Amino acid sequence: MEKNGAERELLEEARQGEALVLEGTGTGKKLYMESYGCQMNFSDSEIVASILQKEGYETTTSIEEADLVLLNTCSIREKAEQTVRTRLDQFNTLKKEKPELRIGVLGCMAERVKEKFFQEEKLVDLVVGPDAYRDLPNLLDEMDGGRKAVNVLLSKEETYHDIEPVRLGGNGVTAFVSITRGCDNMCTFCVVPFTRGRERSRNPQTIIEECTQLWEQGYKEVTLLGQNVDSYLWYGGGLKKDFEKASAMAQSTAVHFADLLHLVAKAVPNMRIRFSTSNPQDMKDDVLHAIAAHENICKYIHLPVQSGSSRILKAMNRGHNREEYIALIDRIQRIIPGCSVSHDMIAGFPTETEEDHAETLSLMDYVKYDFGYMFFYSERPNTYAARKMDDDIPLAVKKRRLAEIIAKQQEHSAVRLAAYVGQTLEVLVEGRSKRSDADLYGRSTYNTVVVFPREEYQPGDLVRVKIDRSTPATLIGQAVDLVR
Ligand code: SAH
Ligand code: F3S
Repeated sequence: MEKNGAERELLEEARQGEALVLEGTGTGKKLYMESYGCQMNFSDSEIVASILQKEGYETTTSIEEADLVLLNTCSIREKAEQTVRTRLDQFNTLKKEKPELRIGVLGCMAERVKEKFFQEEKLVDLVVGPDAYRDLPNLLDEMDGGRKAVNVLLSKEETYHDIEPVRLGGNGVTAFVSITRGCDNMCTFCVVPFTRGRERSRNPQTIIEECTQLWEQGYKEVTLLGQNVDSYLWYGGGLKKDFEKASAMAQSTAVHFADLLHLVAKAVPNMRIRFSTSNPQDMKDDVLHAIAAHENICKYIHLPVQSGSSRILKAMNRGHNREEYIALIDRIQRIIPGCSVSHDMIAGFPTETEEDHAETLSLMDYVKYDFGYMFFYSERPNTYAARKMDDDIPLAVKKRRLAEIIAKQQEHSAVRLAAYVGQTLEVLVEGRSKRSDADLYGRSTYNTVVVFPREEYQPGDLVRVKIDRSTPATLIGQAVDLVR
């Protein structure tokens, strides 16, 4: 499989709850870490590695040589939680042979599982929620002293703004930079507001410093991360809901997401900038104009929609209906011509009828997304939908609808990719193609993966590539020349 497919599959799997083992270097005690779920979790693992490096831990990819095993967990769908559960059982089997091995659970499952895994089943030695990583040194001491090592407190301030992440398992070309934490949107199906807490924005100065440092270290692309980047708001700290109460002075110097994009784009003018995830209800035209204004901001927007039916969108407490979403798609194409767009979609939300499902398919026909991440509804504890709605769509129906959505997306992806044939695209090279050592792969500004013969080019090069043909998930071409 080409990297395009492989990478997407990896991301897809990550979202579905499969793991990526993270690699790094150093000396001392050995830490083995697995991360599940969203990009934010992978980024958090780099923060954890940085905190633990100061405690003398080096990361390893070999579980056998580990002193400490950490699972950075995901709660987004039931399957993700089941995967972690299976992994914990496997680690505990290993621990029988190596009793000194310590096992910890980090991230979104921490709050939910602390009683169960910790006290009842004694599956783990350490439980740490996503806002408590600074407490890890104390918690490790407590654990070593045989005490209960658990901290799942959520914070209204923590953004780890001053922690320089240890880059793990990457390609040395692209890196994540987190800009917000938590989410206030309360979509009725989503567990994130419960597991990751209130939305907070990181000091823009430290975001710019991190991007500048990455550039100096040789990185060529950053992805600014948040559950909902469009609602980024910095006015000297504090929660978004307190903004109105802030002084006039603080309000007048506030930095919104569009401002942040301008700042970062100018601070690292040759760095490619991506961002994820956008939210239709919060994405304003100033953001679109910022994307259009800077050559180095990639012309690609991940814009989850979840459903094409306004009735379902309302039941999901999404802040947009079908018409508003379509109007936004139209504005994107007007302000950023050719911009590629991807989606997240949920099949089988409670009460979804065949008519609602048909509206999802017709919305997809309208937008013709470049690609998408598609799921069937999985009821999550504590959410409004779990408390107030019946999970009434039979699994077989959910799966059939999902299969139809996926089939449609495959059609559209193929059409979108084929339209690039004959064009010359600027491709940032990320590495050697998985399929052939003689080929390189990279991505265009549109996030499409492009494979081409290596010649003298290297990872990190920005290369103009003439596209000769497309496969269902990849573009194949020939290098024309080096941009830089
Ligand atoms: N704003 C976030 C969304 C996180 S969840 C972001 O940064 O991507 C990612 C996707 O998982 C959601 O957009 C949604 O499509 C899907 N999802 C969330 N909760 C779900 C549930 N209960 N069942 C099925 N899919 C879900
Ligand atoms: Fe979840 Fe909706 Fe926020 S999907 S992460 S509550 S925008």
